[in-house]
Formats: sequence, C-alpha cells, structure tokens
Amino acid sequence: MQADELTTLGAREVTPVDGGVAFSGSFAQCYAANLESRVASRVLWQVGETGYRGEHDLFEAARALAWPRHFDVRRTIRVNVSAIQSPVKSLDFVTLRVKDAVCDAFRAACGSRPDVDTARPDVRIHVFLTRDRATFYLDTSGDPLFKRGWRARTGDAPLRENLAAGILRLTQWAAPTPLYDPMCGSGTFLVEAAMMALDVAPGAGRSFAFEKLENFEVRQWQALGEKARARRKAATTLPIHGSDKSGTVLGLARANLEAAGLGQAIRIKQMDILDGAAPASSGILVANPPYGERQADKNELAELYPKLGNVLKQRYAGWTAYLFTADMQLAKLIGLKASKRTPLYNGALECRLFEYRLVAGSMRRPKSVDS
Ligand SMILES: C[S@@+](CC[C@H](N)C(=O)[O-])C[C@H]1O[C@@H](n2cnc3c(N)ncnc32)[C@H](O)[C@@H]1O
Repeated sequence: MQADELTTLGAREVTPVDGGVAFSGSFAQCYAANLESRVASRVLWQVGETGYRGEHDLFEAARALAWPRHFDVRRTIRVNVSAIQSPVKSLDFVTLRVKDAVCDAFRAACGSRPDVDTARPDVRIHVFLTRDRATFYLDTSGDPLFKRGWRARTGDAPLRENLAAGILRLTQWAAPTPLYDPMCGSGTFLVEAAMMALDVAPGAGRSFAFEKLENFEVRQWQALGEKARARRKAATTLPIHGSDKSGTVLGLARANLEAAGLGQAIRIKQMDILDGAAPASSGILVANPPYGERQADKNELAELYPKLGNVLKQRYAGWTAYLFTADMQLAKLIGLKASKRTPLYNGALECRLFEYRLVAGSMRRPKSVDS
C-alpha cells in the first residue's frame, strides 16, 4: 500500500516497513483502506506482539490472545506463518501450534473450536517471526486486494491488478491525456486506468474478511460504500485505447471490460504493433511486452524488440512509452535510450519499468548499453 493512499484516508503514524506500510487508525479507516487502495495486497490488523525464543513461547503467546472476542467459533480459520531469520526449525510445526493455541482459547471460552479451511477460510491469521519477535495479525482483506471482482477469466500471464495500478501511478497518467496499451492481453492496464479515470473504488465489487469479524460495523461500511458509489463517474467514452495481435486474448479483454462495466467506454482492436499507427498525436503508451523463458521464444523476441524500438521511434514521436518487463534483454535490444528505469517486483521476480521519451529524430541510443 502506498503511504500517500493511507494519508489521504486520514490514517496516522503512516510508516514504510519491510514489505508494506504500517499505520494506526479507526476501523472505518481500515475498511476504507481495503475499499480504496489500488496498490495494496492486504490490510492486516495487528492483534498481538511478543518476544519469543521457540515454539513453546509462540504457543503460549497465541493462546493468550483474545481470539473469541474477535470472531465467532463457527467461522473457519487458516493460519499462515512467515519468518525472517527465525530460530524455529519448522514453520509448518509453528503453524500447527498456533492453530492449536487458537482452538484451545475457543474451547476454554465456549466449549468448542473453529474448523480449519485452508482453501476458503472465513478468517486468516498471519504470524510474522523475526529472530526474536512474533507479531500476530488478523487479515481484514480475505482474498488479496488485487482481486477486484472484474476479471472474468485469466489469460496468459496477466499482470496483477495492483501492480498495473502502481505502474499507472508511476507514469503519472491522468485523463484526458490519451493512454494506449498496444499489447493489452487481458486488458489489465485498460481496466485499472478506467477505474482511476472514473474514480471507481477498486474494492467496490467485492467482499472483505472484516465483514466476518465480531467488531464489524455494518453501518459504517455501508456508508463508505454509498459514498464510493455516489462519486463514481458515468462510463462515457474514455481516451483509453488497447490492442493486441492475438484475437483470443482480445476475447478475454472484452469479457473483462464488460464485467467491469466498461464495454462502451474503451475501444480495443486486433492489431500487431508493428503494423499500426498511434491512436493520437501524443500520450502515454504503457505495455507489458511478451518475455521468453524458452530459447525459441527468446530468439523470436530478439527479433521483435529491435523492431518495436524502431516503430516507437518512427510512429510515436510525442509519446512517452513505459515498458514493464522482467526481460533485461529488452533494454539492450530495443535500441532506445531509457530516460528512467524503475526497479519493481512482480512477486519475487525482479522487473524494470523503462521510460522512453519519444522525440522525433533524436532517440537512437549511443553505443553504451542499458540494463
Ligand atoms: C505479457 S502479455 C501482456 C499481458 C497483459 N498486460 C495482461 O495483463 O493481460 C504480452 C501480450 O503481447 C501480445 N503481443 C505479442 N507480440 C505482439 C505484437 N507484435 N503486437 C501486438 N501484441 C503483441 C501477446 O499477444 C500478449 O497478449
């Protein structure tokens, strides 16, 4: 989650931490963070923190927390444990012990225990271990926040919605500047951009785990939902364009646009970027070009990337192009000088967002090599 998203919601003590941003705030702000964040994966509520030496301490610490106050015994649970430099031997064993501790706490409080459901739990409990500290969280999101509810089916390697939204923020695109994804695949950039332009709350079409917690304030949540619906702009034609050379993936993109209520707002067409012209005289081009794992793909891409560079140079003067890739040979082969390279992670995979300012006649790169 980005710190500025939280500050906008009025959260306090907003502090970047490893893998995220910590904040203090009310439950209404927690609901709003889930509803409004375009870039977060989850919002976790810290319910306990302790020093520990081993598995036994973790069991005792988990047993002492007020789980029965937080959720009903009929809710199903799942425990996730992750660790950095922890002395414990097995995270699976800690997972089991924390689950036992939670069940013991319920048995003592109400005579029965919650069931475990690892596939679709009502309540997810996260435990993070460092060398000597353990932090316990209740997950207020449930399904990760990149699941907005608009994706009809997934195509080949779609970008995660929150990563696409984060990249769009880095491009600083805003309507009415034209936006074009010429390799749009299932349409992730297109849908996320449209949701930004129409001020659609990214979580408006889904449910959240906080609705299953005992302290859930349905009125507060309904009020937030109503406010979000009221500010949403009508889906008129947007300056957002998409194309792809594959008719099959365009079918997916169409289904996704329809599911997001954007079928009329965004034009997409089947086109090879090497064959077509820019949809406007200037704008922001954003794409996640194909990348190859097999050698045959790599050979094909080694032909595509220089051609892509030529097309951008010849037909997109006046545009700024942002190419997001895990394939560092793209930077070398495209033959354009990047004005910016932003390292980003797609899960564990290190990627780059390359920015190319396309100006007529001046873009050939000198002999030095970008990476
Ligand atoms: C990594 S995928 C993009 C995924 C997309 N960002 C999404 O979220 O679904 C790359 C896409 O580039 C398309 N593509 C490959 N070569 C192309 C070309 N020469 N012109 C247009 N599209 C192309 C492929 O069909 C594929 O859909």
